[in-house]
Amino acid sequence: KHVAVLMGGLSSERQVSLWSGEACAKALESKGFQVTRVDVGRDLPEVLQRVKPDVCFNALHGRFGEDGTVQGLLELMGIPYTHSGVLASSLAMHKERAKTVMAAAGVPVARGKVVTRAEAAKAHPIEPPYVLKPVDGGSSVGVLIVNEDHVHPPQELTREDWPHGELLLAEKFVAGRELTCAVLDGEALDVIEILPSDGWYDFEAKYAKGGSKHVLPAEISSFVYQQVRKLAVAAHHALGCRGVSRADFRFDDRPNGTGELVCLEVNTQPGMTETSLVPELAAYVGMGFGELVTWLVEDASL
Ligand code: DAL
Ligand code: MG
Repeated sequence: KHVAVLMGGLSSERQVSLWSGEACAKALESKGFQVTRVDVGRDLPEVLQRVKPDVCFNALHGRFGEDGTVQGLLELMGIPYTHSGVLASSLAMHKERAKTVMAAAGVPVARGKVVTRAEAAKAHPIEPPYVLKPVDGGSSVGVLIVNEDHVHPPQELTREDWPHGELLLAEKFVAGRELTCAVLDGEALDVIEILPSDGWYDFEAKYAKGGSKHVLPAEISSFVYQQVRKLAVAAHHALGCRGVSRADFRFDDRPNGTGELVCLEVNTQPGMTETSLVPELAAYVGMGFGELVTWLVEDASL
């Protein structure tokens, strides 16, 4: 099979996608696939017409790669592709719309609302502590945490050239632990707890070697463990995901905490870099990286 690995792209997660794409391309080559690496730009239709792959392996993250647009193009061109389809991709990418759908399926989510950058710059959209994030971003790019001691909204927001989009999600900050779970072929894998080496799970903690410690399996009660897995599957199905997805959670089990477990989001194009969570979760159940990417190619469809 001839596989085009779509990587790079035009989003704020371009670099992450280049890492994911290269790792996947190498693994596919070692499994005997004919691989063409495609750095995605506006000329993608022409490139695909020339390359004529049997399958596109989608290793893109963020806008134009994870949001249903590239999926729509591939549908139109009749090229089978990995991961989620048009609707699930575009729904999951919009964190607020995704929360509405997840909540309707009984998945607890953090309270929040969508505001413009200008509104968020003028006054706190909700009581601190809260998190401000681009409504359709990823990899923690453009995420701000606003604590109780912030009298004013963050200064960055007043910048005319704020690069992270005009629509932000202001979401109640849920203190406590960071848990994640992947769903592969409709079934939950294990649960990882992420312990950032310093501060919170930001871009640096996500991709720098030693930026965070992953505890697998997470040291949580069997009830919470099963709950996370059940909710990850419910969210995957509610959004209509395909192939593999990863659901990220916060769990407040501090002594005087609220005890709440909330799903922050579902990633339809989870990271596939060396420090990424899905490859680690798959390896834990005996599925090596090569096997994982092979499975994704076999699962590809229109
Ligand atoms: N958005 C990054 C790639 C992730 O969810 O893993
Ligand atoms: Mg994400």
